[in-house]
Amino acid sequence: MKNQQQNMSLPLTIFTLTLLSFTLAANSQACTEAFFKLAQKKNISDCKRLRTLGAEFAWNLHGNFSGNNSTVVDILFGATLQTQQGWIGWGVNPGKRPEMVGTRAIVAVKRSDGTWSVDTYNITKEIRNGCNLLPSKIGIVVSKSVEEEADNMHTMYVRLRLPSEEYNVTRLNHVWQVGYGIEGGHPHRHPTTLRNVDSTEVIDLTDSNGRSTGQYRSYLRSIHGVINIIGWGTLLPIGIIIARYFRVFPFKCEPLWFNLHIGCQLTGFLVGTTGWAIGLSLGHSSRYYTFHDHRTYAILIFVFSTIQMLAFRLKPKMTDDYRKYWNMYHHFLGYGLFAIIIINIFKGIRILEGGVEWKWGYIGNLAFLGAIAFGLEVYTWIRFFMLKQKQNQNKNQNQTEQIQEEQPPKLNIIAK
Ligand code: HEM
Ligand code: HEM
Repeated sequence: MKNQQQNMSLPLTIFTLTLLSFTLAANSQACTEAFFKLAQKKNISDCKRLRTLGAEFAWNLHGNFSGNNSTVVDILFGATLQTQQGWIGWGVNPGKRPEMVGTRAIVAVKRSDGTWSVDTYNITKEIRNGCNLLPSKIGIVVSKSVEEEADNMHTMYVRLRLPSEEYNVTRLNHVWQVGYGIEGGHPHRHPTTLRNVDSTEVIDLTDSNGRSTGQYRSYLRSIHGVINIIGWGTLLPIGIIIARYFRVFPFKCEPLWFNLHIGCQLTGFLVGTTGWAIGLSLGHSSRYYTFHDHRTYAILIFVFSTIQMLAFRLKPKMTDDYRKYWNMYHHFLGYGLFAIIIINIFKGIRILEGGVEWKWGYIGNLAFLGAIAFGLEVYTWIRFFMLKQKQNQNKNQNQTEQIQEEQPPKLNIIAK
């Protein structure tokens, strides 16, 4: 069994790395053509799509400002705002981390009559605790304006002068946000969904791709998703397929089926439990949201799969009378578990809002496993009917032979 697990670990590692590279690559995409054109009009050529809120970001560094030891940067920021009123905001944080509190923000507000205004704000701890956000000087803005729309995306342009002792342009903490409430013409509290709290990063403005770090939490979420899809969503179903089709009928692969079944279920359980534990720790450390349904299903999955794993030790012998009832319960729980896993994976994908790649990736995985199971099921029934037909033919043949063996004496009697 150890060998089998080693054999399985290579494709598994490749699969994990491929999925991870897809998710991580999705985090550093080039910006859209429409936004790029707007940036070019402002003589800006470096541009990237930000991870959340459909936001895009373009920048141009003008180098050191002589005598002042500061860097001048042109910024074009864009985000979609589908409501009649609301705001889009972008800012830099001179503190240690890219976070809202401490950010010097530039916010463009859209009023219900469709007009726009742009102002600067100092976001303090008090704002997070509920105080009104009012405009204030932030000392770094040279000019600011609301710009054209591009493909439903609202944009604003700012020229900043960043003092080098406070801001390091190779490691600049920047944040962005979209809100729907305004009060007295100023931005009001924004939602705190995953997309709204993941909108921070540390960017290197000297790199033309805008290389960024500081998304540790969102990477951990992606890793949680990938590991769960592999453990619960792939290995466990493969184990179920092996047990259903390779145990007795249509293929009898003794004892290979058993070793493979246990290998898949054990690895799936261990990998899945690791993903589950990462989920629990992420859930534990998020202060502003809890995903109740996702967590309840996750706990059920862990409890049910642990019970299934107890089969290792607590399985009745083949000769025991109640073995058939145990089989029924083990199968029933196995299929139930499978259904809950599918539901929870889709729930996780919805929470993650990581894009359609996740959904279609998992649907592809399900379709692949489903096609194999379907093919084997059809083959099982075809073989079953062929065997039955053969048995019937044999039975008929035996009967005819029996009749023929019985006939001569009768004929003899008639002949007599
Ligand atoms: C209008 C008043 C605002 C209120 C009441 C508010 C409130 C909040 C709250 C409660 C959180 C979750 C806090 C946490 O996890 O510690 C948050 C997070 C965040 N906010 Fe705001 N916010 C406001 C304005 C803004 C503005 C103008 C921006 C940016 C331009 C912004 C950017 C962010 C970002 C990036 C986060 C996630 C990172 C973090 O938690 O620090 N917020 N906000
Ligand atoms: C059957 C497999 C899965 C299990 C057992 C599981 C388990 C969990 C658990 C226990 C939590 C903590 C919930 C809370 O306390 O709020 C969680 C959170 C989460 N899960 Fe899953 N999960 C699974 C699949 C997925 C998938 C496939 C994805 C995404 C593709 C995903 C994305 C998330 C996200 C985004 C969170 C929130 C993390 C945070 O609070 O920052 N999960 N998961």
